[in-house]
Amino acid sequence: MRIDIVTLFPAFFSGPLQESLLKRAQQKGLLKMQVHNLRDYTHDRHKTADDKPFGGGAGMLIKPEPVFECVEAIRPKGWVVLLDPRGEPFKQAAAARLARRKHLILIAGHYEGVDHRVREHLADQEISLGDFVTMGGEAPALCVIEAVARLVPGVLGNADSAADESFQSGKLEYPQYTRPRVFRKWAVPDILMSGNHEQVRKWREDASLSLTRERRPDLVKTVKKK
Ligand SMILES: C[S@@+](CC[C@H](N)C(=O)[O-])C[C@H]1O[C@@H](n2cnc3c(N)ncnc32)[C@H](O)[C@@H]1O
Repeated sequence: MRIDIVTLFPAFFSGPLQESLLKRAQQKGLLKMQVHNLRDYTHDRHKTADDKPFGGGAGMLIKPEPVFECVEAIRPKGWVVLLDPRGEPFKQAAAARLARRKHLILIAGHYEGVDHRVREHLADQEISLGDFVTMGGEAPALCVIEAVARLVPGVLGNADSAADESFQSGKLEYPQYTRPRVFRKWAVPDILMSGNHEQVRKWREDASLSLTRERRPDLVKTVKKK
């Protein structure tokens, strides 16, 4: 999969894209990522990429020209996603749909956001990470990359890791424990030590469902039966 990131702050990505599974996925050739600096698509001496909003109001908006020029310079054209708090709420199912695409172009806004014409005439989809506002689209873009990349076949060492996880089947994941068996007098449930795979599976399924009922009743009606 190829992912292009369009941003005013390319340095934001230099650490995260070079760590852990994202780094390994690139080394294995499963992911190809490129960060584009919007200022490279400006044409004045000061490399101006933002301006005041028409009609007045606080803050600055990213101008349309550098965003259009940058995205149009990325060939072949990929699926263009604008990160925006007004976009569709990002869910695991949306991550799975994006993971089936070959090429994503993620546009990170900043300041007060981007000129509305980017949303209307350039973006194929707008995604919101949730009902909160971050300073820029860089952190949301990174979250989308993290959620999508791990669903690309081969990126996770063990394909089962993604299969059982929270939201994958509509419910939250069951509690997990590792050694030591007793930590500060808190013991791991005996059933997990029983060696009985069917009982462990049943315990996990029940725990997963009750956790979902307790914390996210809104999800319960979407739970898929195994
Ligand atoms: C400060 S925000 C702009 C908020 C905008 N003025 C509003 O009220 O909807 C700057 C940029 O951060 C990104 N951003 C902020 N919150 C986000 C969220 N919840 N989901 C996705 N992107 C977000 C977007 O790219 C946005 O253009």
